Amino acid sequence: PTSQSLQGKTVWITAGPTREALDPVRFISNHSSGKMGFALAQAASEAGAQVRLICGPVSLPTPVGVERVNVESAEQMLSASLDGIQHCDIFIAAAAVADYRAAEVAEHKIKKQSGKDSLALSLIKNPDIVATVAALTPDLRPFTVGFAAETRDVIEYAQDKLARKKLDMIIANDVSAEGIGFNSDDNAVTLVRPHHVLTLPRASKHELARKLIEHLAAAYYDPATP
Ligand code: PMT
Repeated sequence: PTSQSLQGKTVWITAGPTREALDPVRFISNHSSGKMGFALAQAASEAGAQVRLICGPVSLPTPVGVERVNVESAEQMLSASLDGIQHCDIFIAAAAVADYRAAEVAEHKIKKQSGKDSLALSLIKNPDIVATVAALTPDLRPFTVGFAAETRDVIEYAQDKLARKKLDMIIANDVSAEGIGFNSDDNAVTLVRPHHVLTLPRASKHELARKLIEHLAAAYYDPATP
């Protein structure tokens, strides 16, 4: 693929963590820095795409030429992801979305209970953003790519997520290995598609993002491409 392989295409990317409020001053979140999603946004933009980055709270500069939509919670990320989705050709879910949120957000700061050594939080499931996008009707559904952050049996779990969420491609990420995955500058991934598996060795997230965009564009234009 050439450096302008996504010319005329619209690419949306989710990035970073989500923040699920417990009360006015506390939240549940994770260690995603947004680096992987931002690197993909830059690479897609350099490949000629019009890029929208839908991101949770991260402290990274917006890549030049990229449109940024800031959100906090998974529910906000879902509604931003569906707003205008008919214009999106390729949707890449790099965000680390919280799987659960508080069943009820306390209106006031939760007080420490004297005499009680434990506190139980009740959580409910968040909507699955990438699965919702992949389940859209064919006229609305973009080419849909997910990530799979796993700590063991990485390829097997990724294949399972690919099928369960009905994605076109999943990028499996071993987040147990030192120096890659959450918050590091490097990553190493395996691209998993229904009939293809391709491992991309450790490199900077920027280098990997350029390779991922190349492979993704090739698969987008020709699903039979290896
Ligand atoms: O942000 P960095 O610090 O650079 O780190 C990058 C990363 C490790 C966060 C990234 O490479 C990565 O793996 N992102 C996905 C993390 C994740 O939450 O994986 P998962 O296996 O739990 O989710 C599978 C897929 O479903 C992901 O595409 C995720 O965005 C999506 N998902 C999950 C839950 C949910 N409610 N909605 C979703 O869309």
